[in-house]
Amino acid sequence: MSTVLEEKLAAAPHAAGPSFRLAVEPDALGIVFFDTPGEKVNKYSGTVLRELDGFLDDLARRTDLKALILVSSKPDIFIAGADVAEIANAEPGLVAEGVRFGQRVFGKLANLPYPTVAAIDGACVGGGCETALAMDWRLASDSKKTQIGLPEIKLGILPAWGGCSRLPRIAGLPAALDVILGGKTLDAKRAKRAGFVDEVVPQPILLETAKKFARSKFGSPKRSNAAPDGGPVRARKASLQEVLLEGVGKGIVFSKAKAAVLKETKGHYPAPLEALEAVRKGYGGPLDKALGYEVEGVSRLVGTPTMRNLVSLFFRMEEVKKETGVAAGVAPRRVSRVGVLGAGIMGGGIAQLAADRGYPARMKDIKAEPLAGGFAAAAKIWKEKLKKRRMTRAEFAGKMSLLSGTLGYAGFDGCDVTIEAVLEKMSVKQAVLKEWESVVPATAIFASNTSTLPITEIAAAAAHPGRVVGMHFFNPVHKMPLVEVIYGAKTDPEVTATIFDLAKRMGKTPVVVKDAPGFLVNRILGPYIGEAVRLLLEGNPMEEIDKALRGFGMPVGPIELLDDVGIDVATKAGETLAAAWPERMPTDPAFGKLVGNGRLGRKAKKGFYLYEGDKRTGPDPSAYADLGLGAPPGPKAPREELVSRLVLPMVNEAAFCLMENVVSTPSKLDLAMIFGTGFPPFRGGLCAHADALGLAAVVESLRKLESQKGPRFAPAPYLVDLARGGKTIHAR
Ligand SMILES: NC(=O)c1ccc[n+]([C@@H]2O[C@H](COP(=O)([O-])OP(=O)(O)OC[C@H]3O[C@@H](n4cnc5c(N)ncnc54)[C@H](O)[C@@H]3O)[C@@H](O)[C@H]2O)c1
Repeated sequence: MSTVLEEKLAAAPHAAGPSFRLAVEPDALGIVFFDTPGEKVNKYSGTVLRELDGFLDDLARRTDLKALILVSSKPDIFIAGADVAEIANAEPGLVAEGVRFGQRVFGKLANLPYPTVAAIDGACVGGGCETALAMDWRLASDSKKTQIGLPEIKLGILPAWGGCSRLPRIAGLPAALDVILGGKTLDAKRAKRAGFVDEVVPQPILLETAKKFARSKFGSPKRSNAAPDGGPVRARKASLQEVLLEGVGKGIVFSKAKAAVLKETKGHYPAPLEALEAVRKGYGGPLDKALGYEVEGVSRLVGTPTMRNLVSLFFRMEEVKKETGVAAGVAPRRVSRVGVLGAGIMGGGIAQLAADRGYPARMKDIKAEPLAGGFAAAAKIWKEKLKKRRMTRAEFAGKMSLLSGTLGYAGFDGCDVTIEAVLEKMSVKQAVLKEWESVVPATAIFASNTSTLPITEIAAAAAHPGRVVGMHFFNPVHKMPLVEVIYGAKTDPEVTATIFDLAKRMGKTPVVVKDAPGFLVNRILGPYIGEAVRLLLEGNPMEEIDKALRGFGMPVGPIELLDDVGIDVATKAGETLAAAWPERMPTDPAFGKLVGNGRLGRKAKKGFYLYEGDKRTGPDPSAYADLGLGAPPGPKAPREELVSRLVLPMVNEAAFCLMENVVSTPSKLDLAMIFGTGFPPFRGGLCAHADALGLAAVVESLRKLESQKGPRFAPAPYLVDLARGGKTIHAR
């Protein structure tokens, strides 16, 4: 049996332009191969879309064809969607026209006079998904790379080439809203369950099956012509519940969806609301009107600051994909097995992630209990996936079998990289490094997950310091997307490149950071957390501080963050930072009292807040007494003041980090803050936020705070210089 790829390659090129080729089988089955020359992926630039337009005109005239299949010749990519750079740079006045043109092209596809079938293998997202939705039937391969969906919301826009209109008509309202408003992509099985693909087919026989399927439709009416309003019809029969929800219950579905969007976005993201409106107005009416609502909605979104910030985040992530983290000419080494020292919260999480990505992961601890905990924590994460049917039992068993544990170093000689996650204590880390070095070959790499300890100092204990590097994951490991890759004074660039590459292969976004106390993210969080504590000690209620920062867009407030990180862990980190920068990050002795009283945060279910199970239920009034404060205070400072006092010190510290080259560019800093702390993506990151405020205003506010509250607010000379020159951080 030939593979899909072989079949694709064997197909004779024919007709129109270079991106689209038509091959016609003897029985008049047409197969269109999409393969933009010179590009790794198929995507719709204006040129490709115009080409498709002409190609479809030709196809519409082909009265000899009995059915048509659309397939991609690119491995692992069906169609990656519209060219994001073109959307980002679209002139506001031309957006509506451009979108309408795309809709007309897809309308031509929908109206071809014979049955059409999309044979989807690989990414089928955004405009790619909308292409498939404009066809009569959709078959998808069972490849892991097959992902179908509409992620436009994540770029601050909405699916406007028919996505908001056709998906609800095909998959039904609840499933469509779930995908559109969540910006989701689904694997083939989930897409079938959601009702927007008709069949899931083993990848090697996708094209063959699509041919059989299309032949079975010779002479059948088009699905799109069967719908009363001219739009396509749903891919599967609706359940009674769906019929009710889409009929009399429609209003409830929309109002619930709106409430869920507002809860999730806190009103900071306009795109999901616009998308919801486009679906609501267009659903159940004629398709052309529905498409008109898409145009109106997207025209209001393109060019907004939120959209610009989200698009620029997308490009930063794309850049990281292409980078090695070091200078050109240095290549990463291949990693086949991963070792993890310490099977606690972080070690267990790192081993789970490595195994999840297919690496055999060997954990070592000094006690059996944490090892068992490591296995249990990994199993819990995978069981959740199993429950949600995102994983099969066989996959679950396969991943569990990649994990192994030991109390000695047996097996570590075969691990190309060992990630160290033992106690945050220099002497322990150095002792562990020495033990490890005595059992491994010269090529093995030691990556420390330390939060604050200098990599250069850890490496001083090594016989080969060049193989020691920092690989700083954030907690919880399976959720937080950032990894700081820290090079010490003697770290070999090949070692840095290998860890940068490994972080990407583990599904994370790495940022290279210089070896300095707190590295990048924790250092910037230092003055933020410190100031939050000071606000607390000045008598501001904890929930007011947290609410203000959540209102700003942070996922949790600073006091909540302290509870989540662990008050003991944060206290230790605070001491390291205070030792390095006593002026800007002084610690308050009141803080030590909390830890002394066993108030360690969420993990002890005793922190600033009260906990029931995993749920934070409300402020714990006794925390104030532990801090030496009286009764729980009433609101003091207005929210804007709380936000300024907490966010501006972060901006200032970011400026110091840039000045000291802790990170190479403001874009990388912004990326690290978004992925490491959840800094609101719609603000584009910390530097982008400062630029939006205006650096002159930032410096002025910092000076005012300096005069009122003390020298910790003194603006960084870097900021003062930029402000004086009328510049921004990003255009420095
Ligand atoms: N917890 C976080 O939020 C977080 C985030 C990022 C980085 N880190 C860093 O990760 C490291 C581990 O932190 P954690 O929170 O997982 O701590 P943890 O206390 O949960 O786990 C540490 C584990 O190391 C084991 N251990 C101690 N000495 C050992 C040795 N000689 N050999 C093997 N194992 C040994 C302990 O038994 C324990 O199971 C620290 O350096 C910490 O700063 C922690």
